Order: sequence, then structure tokens, then C-alpha cells
Amino acid sequence: MCGIVGYIGHRDAYPIIIKGLQRLEYRGYDSAGVALYDGNSINLSKTKGKVDDLKSKSESTISLKGSLGIGHTRWATHGVPNDVNSHPHLSNSGELVIIHNGIIENYDSIKKELIKRGYTFHSDTDTEVLVNLIEEVKNQEGVKLGKAVQIALNQVVGAYAIAVFDVKKPDEIVVAKLGSPLAIGIGQDEFFIASDASPFIEFTNNAMYLEDEEMAIIRLGKEIKLRKIKDDSVVYPNIKELQLNIEEIEKGGYDHFMLKEIYEQPRAILDTYRGRLLADKGLIKMAGVDENIEKFLNANRIIIVACGTSWHAGLVAEYIFEDLARIPVEVEYASEFRYRNPVITDKDVLIAISQSGETADTLAAIKLAKEKGAFVFGVCNVVGSSISRETDAGAYTHAGPEIGVASTKAFTTQITVLTLIALKLAKEKGVFSQSKYHEFLTELENIPSKVEKVLLSNALVEQVAAVYKDATNCLYLGRGYNFPVALEGALKLKEISYIHAEGYPAAEMKHGPIALIDEHMPVFVIATKKGHYEKVVSNIQEIKSRKGKIIAIVTEGDEMVRDLADHVIEVPETFESLTPLLTTIPLQLLSYHIALMRGCNVDQPRNLAKSVTVE
Ligand code: M6R
Repeated sequence: MCGIVGYIGHRDAYPIIIKGLQRLEYRGYDSAGVALYDGNSINLSKTKGKVDDLKSKSESTISLKGSLGIGHTRWATHGVPNDVNSHPHLSNSGELVIIHNGIIENYDSIKKELIKRGYTFHSDTDTEVLVNLIEEVKNQEGVKLGKAVQIALNQVVGAYAIAVFDVKKPDEIVVAKLGSPLAIGIGQDEFFIASDASPFIEFTNNAMYLEDEEMAIIRLGKEIKLRKIKDDSVVYPNIKELQLNIEEIEKGGYDHFMLKEIYEQPRAILDTYRGRLLADKGLIKMAGVDENIEKFLNANRIIIVACGTSWHAGLVAEYIFEDLARIPVEVEYASEFRYRNPVITDKDVLIAISQSGETADTLAAIKLAKEKGAFVFGVCNVVGSSISRETDAGAYTHAGPEIGVASTKAFTTQITVLTLIALKLAKEKGVFSQSKYHEFLTELENIPSKVEKVLLSNALVEQVAAVYKDATNCLYLGRGYNFPVALEGALKLKEISYIHAEGYPAAEMKHGPIALIDEHMPVFVIATKKGHYEKVVSNIQEIKSRKGKIIAIVTEGDEMVRDLADHVIEVPETFESLTPLLTTIPLQLLSYHIALMRGCNVDQPRNLAKSVTVE
């Protein structure tokens, strides 16, 4: 996690770095720092807190001059978030300065060795160890910065995206990557470095992404020199033109990114199937699936790996693939899968789902499955992300940048992509008749307008939020396709409002959680008409008899649940397998409003970061 930004060129580096760090705060926000070279020396400012705190501190304490600088926004791994542990870190001589996203696992043994050689350390971080190791190599071997970085990185175990410069050679920045993302923006006589392209998109569309185990020497007036860290072999830069635009990464009039992203869902879902779903022709076109159709059709099973919200989308996909395409599916937490010695064969297809495309556990699961010969397919949102590059084939969700830490449009667009794949396979396998297939495609095309309709319930959801904002515990129940939605609803509430919440399959309630129900327990129940409706109604009766408060998500026009529940929120009718795309929306809005009413930071909840690039 952590966000890194660097600049070398002819503009003032400071405003670029600060704005860039603000855009990268989704990656971590417990402390921040900046180092600027003013022509003579390095001016360093670091603070616990957010980038705004850094701005106030640096603008009153250091010179902001200079066209070379690096900055960092941190999600603490080694050492508590405080001023000293914040990046950038200086080497003992004060000549080298570094920013780092990742973890150096063997930092302790290196630190002990450096201490023996007379080095002193001020912070608890692994990063300060790395910059001093680079300094030691540089001095001992008499090499330039680039070579010293390379030798030092060959001694470390762990993950990193780093940027480092030498005050004695202020025309270059050296960067390297293993496991954490690093993009380089290439302008006219200027270069930008960042964890993603958002910090430099208004300056240049030309960018390249470092691959794992690559490093680059970025020197003013010169071509970027790329090398493999291990064997020093030359790599040729693959410069791309990015499609991202600046409006996509700003709030566009909404108070929070999360709210903007909730409201973007009709458009995002449409963008996900645009050009892929051709209902009039009865066709789904997805290059990544089309080119590998035999792999899917001959698969023994599909294994889905993901984390968090993406794992919930995977659970929805399990229902969809098995129900519609009759293909056996297993859904696994990537973090468990990678370490449990799973049985994988070359007849398995592994689908990895990830919004960011950078989640460390999901990446590791992909590598494991590839080693064992499985065909690996990625469902990612971030174009060019590590997972999208590591997989054999894939499909982007096209949701546009998701900045709010709580995933919203990523979830619904992941489900949309997975539905398209399942429908395509159902058709290819002959499980679906042409007319059933056609009906599905047409209904999928209706989903964006139905999501618009659900969004109209925002004011009602806000009223419900006001009633339950002080709850200390909540239960979320759903069955079938809506069981994962219950899990997702509970996760949304936990992560942004810090209320304890549990999601359960409704029928499991009587095997334990029912003991929790009393007049203080709000229970959010998804009770749409097609998903085991009568059974869920019975579950609602059970809650009511124990005086639990019932907030039900129901199909438009429902009377039976309305009579039982304390509050109902309606969603339009649709096919059962498509209901998660609608029922999840009120739960997203609910957690948003509750978090806001409790004074929580909706877009940057405590202890979290958007991309979890550490295991
Ligand atoms: O980028 P990914 O989809 O791989 O991220 C997975 C989880 O870290 C993510 O979904 C997380 O659970 C969100 N904060 C949930 O809102």
C-alpha cells in the first residue's frame, strides 16, 4: 500500500507532488511527506496525518523551491504512523533520499549488519534500512546510484516500488519495482513517477508501467534506461497512451467519492457491457473469452479467487455460473488459497477478480495457479494493473477509477462482467435456448435504468439511516443470489461506519445468530420476490417474534413483507440472477448515510487503504 509520487523537470515539483499525493490517498493516509531539492540541498517535511496536514506543515516550515522532488502517503507496516516513520527517508550522509511502497522482509538482519558498520537509525522503518543499504553499497563498491540500487535490491527480500535520488546528482531519479505498482509519465523534458497515473494525467498521457524486477534510471534530457534488477539485461520501454481523463478522478460535485461512485453505477454497468452485449444480434463478444472458449468449455471447474468485496462478487458468480452455465465453481479467499496447497490441474480455469488489480494475495494466488498449469483469467478494473498483466487473458470492468475506499461500482460491474461470461458459456454449452438467452440479454440491458430507479430511494434510505445510526450491531440476511449481497452490505457498514455487522444466509440464522436478536437489533433482510421468497418471509416472521427491527429490501409492489417489516425499500423486478445488481444499491447508500451521520470519514475509513499490496 502507500502512494508514491516523484517529479523531475522544469516545473515546480511541490504542487505536483502534493496534488498527486492527494489523488493517491486512497492507497493509505496515516502519514505523509515530501522531499524537494532546491538546487543546493534537500528540504524535507514529514508528518503524521493526511496530505492536508503535510501541506500546512511544509508550507510553514520549508522552502518549496525546486524542480526535483519525491513524496509519499503512507499506510503503516513497519513502525507506528508518526512524523519520524513517515517517508521520505534520508541516508546517514543526508545525500540519498527515498520513498518506498512495500515491505522489506529481511530488513532486520540488514539493519544489524549496517549498525555494525556504524550506521544509525532514527525510525522503525524497513525503508530507512534500504536507503542506507544503497548508500553503503554505493560507497563500498564505488558505483553510481543506479548500480548501487540494483546491487542493494538483489540483497533484499520483499516487495517494493521505490524512487530514490542523490543530492550530488540532481538530474536523475532511480526507480524500481517488485510487487507494488509504479508508473512513469513521460512529458516534454520532464518525468513523473507515481503509484498510478492519476497524479500526472493532466500533464501527459504518455506513460509506461514498470514490470516486476525492473528498474529505471530517469535522467533529464536522456531516454529512460530500463534494466532487469537480477541480471542487468536491457529492457525496452513500452510507452502507452493512456485513456484516463482528469474529470474521472475528481468528485464532480458530489461531497464524497463514494457517493459519486454509487451514482455512477448505471453508467458504469452500461460501460461494462457496451460493445460486448449485442442483444439485437443475440451475441456476447468478449475477446478474452472468445479466444479461449475451449479452455472454459473443457474446464473441470472454475476456481474464483479474490478478496473483500471482489470475493463477494465471486460468490455471486458462483451462483450465476452453476445456475446458468452448469459449470462447477469454487470461490476462495486468495489469502487462504495461496497457502493451503490447493489441488490445481491444467483442466482448471482460475478467475481472479480485483478492482485495483494490485491485491498482493490475489496476485500470489494467480502465480500459484499458473505454476500448476491452470488457465488464469482476470477481471480487473484498473487498466494495465499487475493482475491484468499477470493473467493469461481477461476482461476489464470499465467502471472508471474507483477512489472511495469502500468498493461500490467495482462490485456491480464485476458481477456484470461475470454474468456476461456465464451467459456466453451457457449459450455455447447449449444449456440455454436462443430465446432464453435473448431474454437474458434484453433484461441485462434494462439494468442501468432499473439501478437509476433504485437510486431514487436515496431520501428514504437516508431516513432509515437516521433511525439506525446509533446501532452497535446489525445483521444482514439474504438467500441464494442475495446471500453474498448480505455479506457485502455488512462489510460496507463495518468498514465505513465502524458498526459491527454480520452477513448470513437467512436460513442459517436459526443455527446461532438468532440468539442475538432482541428489540435493539436491526436486521436488514433482502426479500425480493424470486429468491426463495416464502422462506425468507418465514425468517422475517422469526425475527419479528423476537422483536428484532426489520428493514427489508423488497420487490416493487410487495405487500406481505411490508406488513411485517419496520421499513421497506423497493427495487424493480428483474431476473433472480440479476437481483444483486439492484439489491446492493440501497445497502451501499445506507452505509454511506450512517457513516456520514456518525461523523466518519467516508472515503478514507480508519486503518484501511484502497489497494492492499501487502499480504
Ligand atoms: O482491489 P481489489 O478488488 O483486489 O480489493 C479487494 C479488497 O481489498 C476490497 O474489495 C476491500 O474489501 C474494499 N475496501 C471493500 O469495500
